[in-house]
Amino acid sequence: MLVLGLETSCDETGVALYDSERGLLADALFSQIDLHRVYGGVVPELASRDHVKRMLPLIRQVLGEAGKQASDIDALAYTAGPGLVGALLVGASCAQALAFAWGVPAVGVHHMEGHLLAPMLEEQPPAFPFVALLVSGGHTQLVRVDGIGQYQLLGESLDDAAGEAFDKTAKLMGLNYPGGPEIAKLAEQGTPGRFVFPRPMTDRPGLDFSFSGLKTFALNTWQQCRTRGDDLDQARRDIALAFQQAVVETLTIKCKRALKQTGLNSLVIAGGVSANKALREHLERMLGEMKGKVFYARPRFCTDNGAMIAYAGCQRLLAGQHEDLAIKVQARWSMESLPAL
Ligand SMILES: Nc1ncnc2c1ncn2[C@@H]1O[C@H](COP(=O)(O)OP(=O)(O)OP(=O)(O)O)[C@@H](O)[C@H]1O
Ligand SMILES: [Mg+2]
Repeated sequence: MLVLGLETSCDETGVALYDSERGLLADALFSQIDLHRVYGGVVPELASRDHVKRMLPLIRQVLGEAGKQASDIDALAYTAGPGLVGALLVGASCAQALAFAWGVPAVGVHHMEGHLLAPMLEEQPPAFPFVALLVSGGHTQLVRVDGIGQYQLLGESLDDAAGEAFDKTAKLMGLNYPGGPEIAKLAEQGTPGRFVFPRPMTDRPGLDFSFSGLKTFALNTWQQCRTRGDDLDQARRDIALAFQQAVVETLTIKCKRALKQTGLNSLVIAGGVSANKALREHLERMLGEMKGKVFYARPRFCTDNGAMIAYAGCQRLLAGQHEDLAIKVQARWSMESLPAL
């Protein structure tokens, strides 16, 4: 089955062609980062308008790269939520219109299920069951995964998502959006031990997270550096390192707890923050000690992309799932409510 996948939940237009027999044939992405950077975050109306502009040229590009024509496509998959409603509607209406015109089915995909299944596109995919750590711009969740659509939420952030904390901490130090890659780069030149940030909610039982306090801690530290007249370039590097270490260690402690609680030793990490090298290294060390394994996608499939939507949609289409003609999207949507395959 050849599936055309469309992702438009936020500020990336992603398009991909996935073949159930041959794997991923082509994928293309247009990132709107430059468009939103001046505002320090995503402006929803600008995001929607840009998706409208990029969608059809990207579909043509992907078809061309794969040497395929519209008539070869067996089905469409699109992100139906969670995300920005205006942005989601662009992908949903485009997919539904093409599906109607071409006489093929279309399926709406849960964006976080897309992220969660992205490591399945790699050479050594994880096998069920496993624990998944979803760490993106809008979510921080620990999930027990027994199969596609068999998700049990073990814990989540009570306030900011991990990626959001990276973005906000970067912004308060005058760094560019998105802040995750900026902080990761600066942290490489940070002075170990100059600042020590707390490891929130690790001293009590449970698998929930809280990252908003770290951002406040970073703000106070940054203001103290400014008041003292410290070298601000070095202060940025040192705060970046201390902040990243705190997030990475907190996530690692909670993952270890989740693996112990479930008795599993296979961990999948997905979402933009799973591209973070320090996080990967920490988790690999921890899983090595547990004789287990960590799975993740190549960096460009950690952040938003069309390939993960084409893949997840293909699995659901193969199981016979598809939508009626109504165009439905959801800003908020629990992954636990998805049907099991
Ligand atoms: N190397 C990195 N280290 C830390 N964070 C990173 C890195 N690369 C990207 N990020 C963060 O990942 C986030 C973007 O990831 P992603 O595209 O998965 O999120 P999103 O789509 O905005 O949110 P969601 O998927 O929850 O709707 C941003 O917050 C960004 O700062
Ligand atoms: Mg995302």
